[in-house]
Amino acid sequence: MSAVETLIVDEATDRLVVTLNRPDKRNAIDQRMVDELHAVCERLERDPRILILTGSDGVFASGADIAELRDRTAIDARRSINATIFSRIAALPMPVIAAVDGYALGGGAELAYAADFRVGTPRLRIGNPETGLGIIAAAGALWRLPQLVGEPLAKEMVLAGRILTGEEALAARLVGDLFEPSELLAGAHALADRIAANDPLATRFTKAVLAAPPARHPRAEREAQAVLFESPEKHRRMTAFLERRRR
Ligand code: COA
Repeated sequence: MSAVETLIVDEATDRLVVTLNRPDKRNAIDQRMVDELHAVCERLERDPRILILTGSDGVFASGADIAELRDRTAIDARRSINATIFSRIAALPMPVIAAVDGYALGGGAELAYAADFRVGTPRLRIGNPETGLGIIAAAGALWRLPQLVGEPLAKEMVLAGRILTGEEALAARLVGDLFEPSELLAGAHALADRIAANDPLATRFTKAVLAAPPARHPRAEREAQAVLFESPEKHRRMTAFLERRRR
């Protein structure tokens, strides 16, 4: 990718690893980072691959960039700058894994909530201190977080500023697993390997149908399965299973 300033993008055939890289500002999410994340999304929409999102220097992200936020107006609020990019990330065709170490606060936490999976470290500190800055958490914490951890804990976090440790996030299943910081990325890759072992099209359809609203079921399943039942990969995988058993 050309002239990427706030991200480091590492490519593999089946995945991209995107490292948030504004360590001087504790990876605060500024407009430039948002723009660069949109460019990553554009690539992954064209060429679906797993996305691993991670931080740097022991910090995932300290939130939206407060220096920019302070001067934003009602017009900016209505543009939903962070909510839009996080929803685009959540809707990527293949699964998204957030590997979160250290601070994941405010918009940083909401970026992690937008992922399909979160893996963390014991020193993770995740939460939403927005009301302390005189704003609401408008990029997912008020609807994704209750879905992820249930309303009682979500309310402690968004109304009373509770910041979860890694152990607490694991107990709440907000993160699926904890690793020592030096092992975090390997842990994320191991999860990506498990996803990548399956048929990518079946994985994409599973993600899309999971996200479909109730009224679209079971039609969404029917349509997806109709495509997959005709796919050469389904035939190949099932034949391989049957032939293995015959041996
Ligand atoms: N936006 C803009 N700049 C930020 C930032 C943010 N969200 N978080 C940290 N920074 C900047 C600091 O202003 C400082 O910049 P400077 O070196 O030019 O003075 C630099 O990053 C280092 O921050 P500092 O507070 O010294 O680091 P720390 O390691 O002691 O603490 C945090 C890290 C994350 C606990 C602390 O920076 C913090 O509380 N940040 C704000 C968290 C927040 O309220 N997020 C919600 C935003 S909606």
